[in-house]
Amino acid sequence: MRIAVLNGPNLNLLGSREPEIYGRATLDEIRETVVSRASDLGAEVRWEQTNHEGELVDLVQGLAATADGALLNAAALTHTSLALRDALLAVQVPFVEVHLSNIYARAEEERRRSLIADLAVGIVAGFGARSYVLGLDALVGHLSERATRPS
Ligand code: DQA
Repeated sequence: MRIAVLNGPNLNLLGSREPEIYGRATLDEIRETVVSRASDLGAEVRWEQTNHEGELVDLVQGLAATADGALLNAAALTHTSLALRDALLAVQVPFVEVHLSNIYARAEEERRRSLIADLAVGIVAGFGARSYVLGLDALVGHLSERATRPS
């Protein structure tokens, strides 16, 4: 099973960026945890981070040919990017929306809406770095059930 993990703007700064909201784990540390859990589950992970909207759109467009499912932390683009939404609609690859913080409990109103949530298989938000692993478990479970379901 091929899982892509796509990370949006400023997530490369995790560890030092607003640790009271996003925690102290770096993106590399989160990647190591996810890759290790994925190998326990028999899945292989491709890990990407970009600060650029167009690049994230390119990565989403590429999912159709390269991944069975995706974890997506689109960061601020979650709240703003119709282009990202359109790309997800175009490729129709199952994805779990992931956030370190609970975006629905954030002070800024703009952060309390997601332009992609209704396209996701599900959402995991608010568990810090653990959101990624919870999202991975849920996604792999979802894809396995789908694969074994009688047609
Ligand atoms: C985030 C929440 C977003 O509002 C913010 O722009 C981020 C990180 C999260 O993981 O909690 O960069 O996606």
